[in-house]
This record gives sequence, C-alpha cells and structure tokens, in this order.
Amino acid sequence: MSRVLIQNGTIVNADSTVKADLLIVGAVIKEVRAGIPASAAGTVVDASGLLVLPGGIDAHTHLDMPFGGTKSADDFETGTRAAAIGGTTTIVDFAIQARGTKMRAALDTWWKKAEGKACIDYGLHMIVTDLPDAGLEDMDDMVREGVASFKLFMAYPNVLMVDDATIFKAMRQSAKNGALICMHAENGSVIDVIVQQALAEGKTAPIYHALTRPTAAEAEAVHRAIAMAEMAGVPVYIVHLSSEDALNQVREARDRGLPAFAETCPQYLLLSLEDNMIDKGWEGAKYVFTPPLREKRNQPKLWQGLRKDHLQVVSTDHCPFCFEDQKALGKDDFTKIPNGGPGIENRLQLLHHHGVGQGNFSINRFVELVSTAPARIFGMYPRKGVLAAGSDADLVLWDPGADHTISAATHHMRVDYSMFEGFKVKGNARDVYSRGELIVSGGEFIGKPGRGEYLRREARGGAWK
Ligand code: URP
Ligand code: ZN
Ligand code: ZN
Repeated sequence: MSRVLIQNGTIVNADSTVKADLLIVGAVIKEVRAGIPASAAGTVVDASGLLVLPGGIDAHTHLDMPFGGTKSADDFETGTRAAAIGGTTTIVDFAIQARGTKMRAALDTWWKKAEGKACIDYGLHMIVTDLPDAGLEDMDDMVREGVASFKLFMAYPNVLMVDDATIFKAMRQSAKNGALICMHAENGSVIDVIVQQALAEGKTAPIYHALTRPTAAEAEAVHRAIAMAEMAGVPVYIVHLSSEDALNQVREARDRGLPAFAETCPQYLLLSLEDNMIDKGWEGAKYVFTPPLREKRNQPKLWQGLRKDHLQVVSTDHCPFCFEDQKALGKDDFTKIPNGGPGIENRLQLLHHHGVGQGNFSINRFVELVSTAPARIFGMYPRKGVLAAGSDADLVLWDPGADHTISAATHHMRVDYSMFEGFKVKGNARDVYSRGELIVSGGEFIGKPGRGEYLRREARGGAWK
C-alpha cells in the first residue's frame, strides 16, 4: 500500500487549525500529528506555506441532466474533472424520477451516466416527480441504496412541480426511513401567472425571468416547506436559497428550535440583478437560473447568514448550458432559456477569497461550509469532510496566496462562458488527493476518468441529530 506523508502544512478542520503532518496509507488517513518521521512514508510532500483542507463537497450539481429540451453541458467526466481542479473531491448529483416510473430506473440511468466517467466520488439525491402510494416503498428502496435524500420541487408546474400532499407524504415517509427532504422552494403556481402575464405583454427578454419570480414567492414556499416538515416531524433542507426574505423564514424556524437547514450558492453571494441583468439585454441569459439573481441588497444578508449559521452550506447548483447554442433556445422567449449556470470549479476559490479574504468568516468556517457541514447533513461524515485518522484521504493542498483570474478561456468546465468572468481571487488548490490518490498536481488533472466511486450515504445524517 502506498504511504504518503504531507509534512509541514497547516491542517485545517472545521474546529481546529494545527501545524502538523498527515500520513496517508492507501486510501485512508492513518495519522495526523506533529513530527511524523519521513521514514514512515514512501513519498514525502513538503506542504510548507500551504493549508491542508478536507476535500470540498458540492452537495448540489446537475451533470448530464436533461432540461428544457437539451441537457446540461458537463457530463460526469468533464464536470467532476473541473470540480477536482477546483478542490472538490465529492459531489452529490441529482437523479430524476420520470413521472409514472420507478425511482430505481432513474438510479440505474444515473449510475450509467457516471460509469467510466466520474473522476471523484459521487452520491445521488433522487428528484421525486410522482409519488403514488406504492412509490413510498420506492423511497425506502432508494435509502437502502444509499440515496439518503430526496429533492421535491414547489416550482416548474407541469414539469417537476409536485403538490403539497405529495410533499407531505414524502416527508412522513422520511420520518420512517431517515432520509432528508430537500426543497426547491418557490411558489410555482403564482410565478406561472406572473410569467404568463409578462409574455402576454410582450416581455420576452432574459431579465423577465428574474422579474417574474419575486422574493415573496420564495419566502412563502420556504415558510410552507418548513411548516409541512414541522407537521411531519422531520428536518428539511432548503436548496439554493437566494434572498433575505427567504432567509428570514429559515432563521425564524431555527430560532424556534426546528431542524431547518439551507444552502446558498456563490452566484447569490456575488452576482446581482443590478450588476448582471439590468440593461444587459441578451447577455442576461447567462444568468438565467432559478431562483433568479436578486437585488444587490440581499448579498450582505446572505453573507451574514453564513457567518451566523442561519445558512449551513455553500454548494454550486452547477447546471451549465452553453451560451451560443443552448441558452439561445430562449432568444425570443425567456421561458425557453434552459435554467442553470456553471460554477463547480470555482466554489472554493470564490468562497475563500470573498469569505475568508474579505473577513466574512474564518478559515475554519470556510471548511465547514464547503466540506464538513455537507458531509454531516448528507450522511457522509466522518468518512468525508474531516482530516482525521480513519477518514478517506480526500484532501487539498491549498495555496492561500495563489493569484488566479477566473475566465472561460482557462476554466475546465465544458461551457463557453463563466458567470464569474474576470473575477480575481487569492487562494487556489495546488494538489488534490482523492482516496489517497494524487489526482490534481500543480493545478493539472492527472487522475483517470472512471476512478470515482458511488457513495452510499447514511440515512439519519446530521440533520436528524
Ligand atoms: O436553474 C436551476 N437552478 N437549474 C437547475 C435545476 C434546479 O432547480 O436546481
Ligand atoms: Zn432547484
Ligand atoms: Zn439545482
């Protein structure tokens, strides 16, 4: 078995920062302590001046996903390779149950998508589109397969949206099987009325995607999701939370002691209606995702939410569509623009620079938001999300002083634009290990597609405790 000693680095976990050495034996961390002798290892890596971080965990990605008459531009190979280069060693992607079919069929389809391609370990959530009474056992079947979380949509009527009865039934089943319900929380019926009116008035440009989805529609749905979870006696996790109004609902629930959790994404923290959509014409299509970009005044509230643990996770909702030939499907009608944006590669860079570098939170909180909390909440801890003896040797040698400019010209995602074009960041991944294997060296991917393994996640993860 290979023995790799990382020497002289600063080991950063969510709850500690220590100068120590870290010994990897095979796929697992054997020891973390000061003064491990070089003779203990076959390979010795000098990490002087570097931070050693647990590999990033992106709990919200959409690779090779059919949507809006096309499919997301990154598959499991290009998407996970870009993730690794950015310091992410685990993703949790979404399989989609087709209406009227068994969830197992979707699970098989998504395993096939990943087979021979995934460069890092991956778990799967299941998107529930249909839940007849027999489907409730389907959920238990998924939990046995390590699909310990389900996403339900309160938006996208006639496509993915399910009604409150379905949501409540899924929640009650999760009380029995220990899964976590993840909610896309926007009032889709109300939004649809506003959208139809906009179209009737000839408002077809990308900006109207954002203007037809008010923050009240998000806040109302967050409130309703939490209320249903309270009635069912289960935790709930709000995905891609975008606004202060919605955040207030989560904060109030948590203040009441309810197990309500939420993630936000770099786009909501760093991009805005004012900077990226207003007066930008068709360019605005690059930022058509759901929930939409919000007014800039929401950003400091989200940063504060991350600081104060009203928000627990930052994931990307990576769902790339090329500007040239995919976003173009909605040239004459914003409702036909495929919803989603790219970001799987840039999450750690952006959060480190704007979070730690700008004094929004500590390096330990950074690790918690991008790795430890998603590992706990989604049933992967302590195998993932921590640098400790016995955990998978998923780690990043992070250079906190490295300068990098984000650009589509140099990124590794298979998409022809960057949402963060020209953003300058300090701090970047130098080397990345996945289960003890060096897969990124000096910023270059050197791993093999297909080496990534499916992760069976535990039910009754951190959200239940
Ligand atoms: O616009 C988005 N977010 N696309 C991906 C699907 C979803 O709702 O997460
Ligand atoms: Zn969603
Ligand atoms: Zn998503």
